[in-house]
Amino acid sequence: MTWSLPHCRNCLERPILLMDISLFPLFFLFLFLLQHPSSVAHLHKIKLLSSEPELLAQPASSDDTPPTLYFEVTKPIKLPKTKPCSDHILHHEFGYTYAKPPVLANYTPPSHCPSDKFSKIVLEWTSTCKGRQFDRIFGVWLGGVELLRSCTAEPRATGIVWTVQKDITRYYSLLMKDQILAVYLGNIVDQTYTGVYNVDIFIHFYPAENDDLAYGYGGAPADMILPISRNLPLNDGLWFEIQNSNDTEVKQFKIPRNSYRAVLEVYVSFHENDESWYSNPPNDYLAANNITDTPGNGPFREVVVTLDGKVVGAVWPFTVIYTGGVNPLLWRPITGIGSFDLPSYDIEITPLLGRILDGDTHSFGFSVTNALNVWYIDANLHLWLDPKNSITEGEVLNYIEKPLVEYLVSDFVGLNGSFWTGARRSIWSTGWVRSSLGNITTSFIQDFSYNNSMVMGNDGSLETVNQIIHFNDSVHAKLPSSSVHFIRETYRRFLLNLCTDDLDEGYDAYLSIANFTLGFDESKFKSSEFGLHSSTLKNVQNGQGNMVVKKNLVVSGLGSTQQDYNFESNDFCYFRKVGSSNYTILYDKVGNPCKKRSHTPLGFGFS
Ligand SMILES: *[C@@H]1O[C@H](CO)[C@@H](O)[C@H](O)[C@H]1NC(C)=O
Ligand SMILES: *[C@@H]1O[C@H](CO)[C@@H](O)[C@H](O)[C@H]1NC(C)=O
Ligand SMILES: *[C@@H]1O[C@H](CO)[C@@H](O)[C@H](O)[C@H]1NC(C)=O
Ligand SMILES: *[C@@H]1O[C@H](CO)[C@@H](O)[C@H](O)[C@H]1NC(C)=O
Ligand SMILES: *[C@@H]1O[C@H](CO)[C@@H](O)[C@H](O)[C@H]1NC(C)=O
Ligand SMILES: *[C@@H]1O[C@H](CO)[C@@H](O)[C@H](O)[C@H]1NC(C)=O
Ligand SMILES: *[C@@H]1O[C@H](CO)[C@@H](O)[C@H](O)[C@H]1NC(C)=O
Repeated sequence: MTWSLPHCRNCLERPILLMDISLFPLFFLFLFLLQHPSSVAHLHKIKLLSSEPELLAQPASSDDTPPTLYFEVTKPIKLPKTKPCSDHILHHEFGYTYAKPPVLANYTPPSHCPSDKFSKIVLEWTSTCKGRQFDRIFGVWLGGVELLRSCTAEPRATGIVWTVQKDITRYYSLLMKDQILAVYLGNIVDQTYTGVYNVDIFIHFYPAENDDLAYGYGGAPADMILPISRNLPLNDGLWFEIQNSNDTEVKQFKIPRNSYRAVLEVYVSFHENDESWYSNPPNDYLAANNITDTPGNGPFREVVVTLDGKVVGAVWPFTVIYTGGVNPLLWRPITGIGSFDLPSYDIEITPLLGRILDGDTHSFGFSVTNALNVWYIDANLHLWLDPKNSITEGEVLNYIEKPLVEYLVSDFVGLNGSFWTGARRSIWSTGWVRSSLGNITTSFIQDFSYNNSMVMGNDGSLETVNQIIHFNDSVHAKLPSSSVHFIRETYRRFLLNLCTDDLDEGYDAYLSIANFTLGFDESKFKSSEFGLHSSTLKNVQNGQGNMVVKKNLVVSGLGSTQQDYNFESNDFCYFRKVGSSNYTILYDKVGNPCKKRSHTPLGFGFS
């Protein structure tokens, strides 16, 4: 471990220290010699941005202004009608916490509830902050199992408040035992960056209305969850850190010999040189232009998961933009999709259980194709155990990992150019497991495609990125007890269009104009002996912003954001259309009318 360099490795803090003023004269001389002064701003948009125009203009703000409420648009959690038992599990003020141990607390299951059968369990994170601060990545772990990966909101002089609610019912078995809670939020407080995050965490337990927990394939939570993360003590989060494309981080584990189903839930976030991996130009382009201090390796990234060294699944992550990303004014008060609750991704391990039911030690490994420093990755292994037998048996029947196909076409003259990057990958596995539930054969398929076009103009100061990721997977299980097969299919489409134009204004300042479209679409289909269930989510944000950046501070500017969220399922619908500009909500329409749904075929929704 090297803690000698106290530089931040969190959300918006990068190793390219625009903060370090002593570097500037040298830096400009270098660019002057190359005669590309206009590229300064853009190719160095990898920067630290914290903004507080009001603070700079009028540092003394009156104390009676109410804090601004920031929020991520998402559907409300469907709750039972029962009265929850609520536990306040942590209060902490995160001041100078960077490179310090995570904040720990003893967790005990609720003891004041009428029963220990809960149909919904909700984690609630609430934070206030005042002053000036960067966006900070943080994680919440219980017994080493990650419950929430998130990014803080950037405060303002008059203060902000935000709340994240997450359905954590799937961690039921973990929550019913005594555990150590760990929260890592690496914050730095000094004379300029004054924001301290004042945090409260609650867990709300909603007693079940009736006995509705079914077994593994019916949707019941796992019987056991193994942490695939780093062990405490640590002066950091429990995540593994992937620093380059050759880096593989490995965790050993052993599973109970009576497991009959296994799902690996992977948490991923990207920082520093790879925070905006989707807009990184290829190394060739940087080398041809003698640029050595801008992140490259092109815009394609893939998280690869191995079991005992063999690829068992991949994650092509959603392009979460943190609250200081692109233009921090875009995320006030509507924050970027996924930024307050980063998505996790499930990889079905059941077909491969036959290989790890022997009672021996096995290992999961994580790596990231084309990675630059740094990716934070860990996982939770959800296991369902045979209630009747102490041993199950299984065998892998078929396993096909089609190698990653990646192409890159570049066409550039100087700092102007176009780049097309594409990729595809499929992974299939089939295997059987025999338990007291019978002999169940399960297949898991992942299909990915990736398409990115990047255009650099105005000698590198104008960049346009258009990217689409398709991330489909399916689980099919042949259950002996029923004539109905279990099928779960998920289709995801991640869309990103980003356009940034930076104009040098001299005196260490530049004007940045940016607009974006960010889309997270997901269709799910599930068929089991408990019936059919399908849902469609269309979630899209558009934004336009401008800002003047001097040193690493946004000194003036304006951000406007519009979001259209639309969720429909058999039994629950929700939409929200909301727009904001300059911290003010301009319109906000919320509704839940389930339209008459026509019978949509599999894979619906993305035309
Ligand atoms: C990864 O390993 C290859 C082969 O050893 C080497 O050529 C390459 O420079 C390494 N890349 C990084 C980022 O360390
Ligand atoms: C379980 O089913 C598979 C596929 O039908 C079969 O190959 C295997 O032999 C069965 N295992 C047992 C123990 O019956
Ligand atoms: C990638 O997108 C471009 C336009 O955005 C399209 O012309 C091209 O066919 C796409 N390629 C693939 C492989 O989907
Ligand atoms: C790059 O494009 C700009 C216009 O966008 C043009 O003014 C400039 O001359 C071009 N540079 C090169 C090296 O072709
Ligand atoms: C986004 O910005 C680019 C460059 O400034 C501009 O050409 C384009 O029209 C803008 N698009 C929208 C929708 O504002
Ligand atoms: C944003 O709103 C503030 C008042 O809250 C106002 O002083 C400022 O001029 C506005 N900025 C723009 C660019 O409209
Ligand atoms: C994913 O599913 C969608 C919807 O069926 C389809 O259009 C797309 O081609 C699929 N992509 C891949 C990579 O399988």
